[in-house]
Amino acid sequence: MLTATSPAPAPRGATESRLVVQVLPDAAAVARRAADLVAELLLAGGLRTFGVATGSTPSPVYAELAARGLPGWDGVRLFALDEYVGLPAGHPESYRAVIEREAAGPLGVPLDQVHVPDGTADDPRAAADAYEAALAAAGGADVQLLGIGANGHIGFNEPGSPLGSRTRVVDLDERTRADNARFFDSPAQVPHHAVTQGVATIGTARRHLLLATGAAKAEAVRAALEGPVGPACPASAVRLFTDVHVLLDTAAASLLTRA
Ligand code: PGA
Repeated sequence: MLTATSPAPAPRGATESRLVVQVLPDAAAVARRAADLVAELLLAGGLRTFGVATGSTPSPVYAELAARGLPGWDGVRLFALDEYVGLPAGHPESYRAVIEREAAGPLGVPLDQVHVPDGTADDPRAAADAYEAALAAAGGADVQLLGIGANGHIGFNEPGSPLGSRTRVVDLDERTRADNARFFDSPAQVPHHAVTQGVATIGTARRHLLLATGAAKAEAVRAALEGPVGPACPASAVRLFTDVHVLLDTAAASLLTRA
């Protein structure tokens, strides 16, 4: 794995940051609450750049937002967390295709305002650097939606990813490849590499919504919120971020001792 790094974010100070954990009855309630928080920001004029995530957990949030018919999406830019390396352009499971289909289309965000790392580039490392620069030039995300992997990843920052990591090319864990095989015709078709925003890149967003549902995420959620902050569980870095809402269903929260 490449290790593009910068200093890890400073620890949260008690006065200048907050991390709120909310446990909701089920996945639908998690999606509704996440949509409430994003909608509030949009309607207040504070959502110019929306950090979007792919996966079964974030997807219903876009559907929920689209169903509300809110004005203003045509002025919002979407920045994806990550992209597979090596899928052909237009592949339906490329994250560009997923974000266009599940988020931009239903919300009414023009496709030229959709930013996803270029997983088809001849030089994926240069594409990663260009993406980091584009996100920085946009001023970072106003809010970043995040799922969490069963192995504790955020984006495709697999366990071992430095907390100071920036956008880079990574190897995908076998666990992640197996988890994502459901989106492909066969497990062998899941790419081995991806471009992902680094942990520190994700930390540049002004707010974060971390969503987890289902018992399969319970151990990762426990490690992220109650285990040591460090590369063994990249999602633990949210405890270093400034303004974080963690939205869980009861199954995903079931191993927490302090929620
Ligand atoms: P999932 O993926 O929502 O499809 O479980 C989340 C993630 O791996 O970040």
